[in-house]
Amino acid sequence: MRLHPGAKPEFVLHVESRQAQLRSELPACLPAPPASIVLEIGCGHGHFLARYAEAHPDRFCLGIDIIKDRLERAAKKGRRAGLKNVHFHKTEATELVECLTPGIVLQAVFLLFPDPWPKKRHHKNRLVRPDFLADLARHVVPGGAFYFRTDHAEYFAAGRAVLEQHPDWQIEPTAPWPFEEATVFQLKAPEYQSLVATRRRT
Ligand SMILES: C[S@@+](CC[C@H](N)C(=O)[O-])C[C@H]1O[C@@H](n2cnc3c(N)ncnc32)[C@H](O)[C@@H]1O
Repeated sequence: MRLHPGAKPEFVLHVESRQAQLRSELPACLPAPPASIVLEIGCGHGHFLARYAEAHPDRFCLGIDIIKDRLERAAKKGRRAGLKNVHFHKTEATELVECLTPGIVLQAVFLLFPDPWPKKRHHKNRLVRPDFLADLARHVVPGGAFYFRTDHAEYFAAGRAVLEQHPDWQIEPTAPWPFEEATVFQLKAPEYQSLVATRRRT
């Protein structure tokens, strides 16, 4: 999390202690490094990732969200299906990217129906933005994929423009969507758009 230079000292301490906790608890939840994993940001109730993990037993999948009860329901799905290759963790995306265990790299990242932050003054909170994509790219293997799907047409267009101009990412217009499983928000969306980008190799 990029802290505002004027952030209050007690807030800075709070963020630092949360990040220290994340750094200490993540290694026990992830495969031993070096390892490559699949990440879903804002996994909600885990519909997509639980089914993805079931269909890809050779991949370890990490789902993150900031809402505890959604994660509890996601974890229940994983347990009920007897999945050993999926873990759901309560953390915020920018903090995860800062605190990801050394030696763990991302082979694919899914961002499905992220909060669109429709008001202009809130666009800075969107995850498909240059600085977050640069921080994320540092953990993604060259050629690794970023999968973005949203029903918010303006966010989709803005996200595509950000990715088109981004030095770390390349849009793959013909790349197929790798796995279909409707999320809670997908089921409610009359229509949506999808985009695949890959981490540049240079
Ligand atoms: C619109 S919901 C979509 C949930 C799910 N992907 C779906 O399609 O049903 C967005 C989700 O992202 C989570 N979220 C929002 N900002 C986040 C962040 N910065 N880091 C991690 N999760 C976040 C929210 O708590 C919420 O569960």
